[in-house]
Amino acid sequence: MSRTVLTAVPGPWESDLVTTVEGTDGYAVVRRCADLPDLLAAAAAGLGEVALVSADLRALDRAALHELTQHSVLVAGVVAPGDEMGERRLRQLGLEVVVVADTPAPDLQDRLDELTEGAGTGLSPDDEPPPEELPAADPDAEPGRVLAVWGPTGAPGRSTVALNLAVELASRAPTLLVDLDTYGSSQAQALGLLDEAPGVAAACRAADQGTLDLPALARLAPEVGGGLRILTGIPRAHRWTELRAPSVAHVLTLARQLVRFVVVDCGFGIEDDEELSYDTIAPRRNATTLTTLEEADELVVVGAGDPVGLQRLVRGVQDLGVVPTPASRVVVVNKVRAAAVGSHPERRISEALGRFAGMDDVVFLPWDPAAVDGAMLAGTSLAEHAPQSPLRRAVTSLADRYAAQPVSRRERGRVRLGR
Ligand SMILES: Nc1ncnc2c1ncn2[C@@H]1O[C@H](COP(=O)(O)OP(=O)(O)O)[C@@H](O)[C@H]1O
Ligand SMILES: [Mg+2]
Repeated sequence: MSRTVLTAVPGPWESDLVTTVEGTDGYAVVRRCADLPDLLAAAAAGLGEVALVSADLRALDRAALHELTQHSVLVAGVVAPGDEMGERRLRQLGLEVVVVADTPAPDLQDRLDELTEGAGTGLSPDDEPPPEELPAADPDAEPGRVLAVWGPTGAPGRSTVALNLAVELASRAPTLLVDLDTYGSSQAQALGLLDEAPGVAAACRAADQGTLDLPALARLAPEVGGGLRILTGIPRAHRWTELRAPSVAHVLTLARQLVRFVVVDCGFGIEDDEELSYDTIAPRRNATTLTTLEEADELVVVGAGDPVGLQRLVRGVQDLGVVPTPASRVVVVNKVRAAAVGSHPERRISEALGRFAGMDDVVFLPWDPAAVDGAMLAGTSLAEHAPQSPLRRAVTSLADRYAAQPVSRRERGRVRLGR
């Protein structure tokens, strides 16, 4: 039995390509789709096993390719003879098999066999961008590590910790701070940057469209001094749909090659609305946080050191148990003060967390409104505004944990971009 093929190839060589497919032994065109929506509908209806898509197919992006793979459709790219730009774009979108439109039937058959007999989905795994898109790689460079800074609702200080941890790490090695809190981004303002900065929305859009490579990411994530780069967040929460899981994952993958530390300020929500819906393709409200938690190497959980904050922390850590997260985890209790929990607050909190939640490795950050308010007002970090403050010192020793760690050889070398 032939494998069923869907084509979505608007160019003038579409009919020749269909004839070529018909000339193969194992493949038959079952539908010639007029456009991308037509293709996605055919895939959703289970009509095809393989899709041929061309570089000039309107609105073709990473999310669409991901959707095709969700419907178990293997995708191959098609380009006009000599269209190197088109081929490059399709490969940057992650397609492993790209054929030239005038390929003769036996060769086309070989390439499609390659696609259908390989174990994968036709999309390259996201940790291996094609080598041609990288500037001169430094083979000795260690890969970047992704630190997810997460915490429950109630403003425990996720953003304060993420920013200041990133600043401390940046003083040791190139670091990128990514604001992925889609409920309430804040890093642009904390650093006195314009809200209109392109930021993470532009990076995800470029990832979607297959135009995000290292130089593009470096342009979108400007240096703000002290070895720190930033990808600012979405200025309005309703724009969360712009940040889809596959593009967030791609941004983080490239970021590992750009810098040594990637610190992500995550939104609090981790419930997965996929369970509420039969539509597995719809954008998921908490996809950014869930994707970050899944991709990250290190998890920093931030809770507030008052009774409500501590209870949310314990429940939050329980909730984390049902989603993929890094094995390496540090619990940070912030805003620690006797007024909220009684005398010897660190000892009390340690005892409570140890007893009720089995947490023994807890880092404490003191209540220090003068330092954080002053830094926020000045649009800068604790390191710059209040370098001697107890809070800054505590963040420094938290950073020491990560800066001192040996790096696994699991990932490939990071790339230096003329810094
Ligand atoms: N250690 C601290 N001492 C005093 N105030 C703090 C401390 N950490 C954070 N804050 C303040 O708490 C508020 C919430 O912090 P933020 O980092 O924005 O929380 P989140 O990102 O979790 O919503 C901010 O006004 C911040 O200045
Ligand atoms: Mg925040």
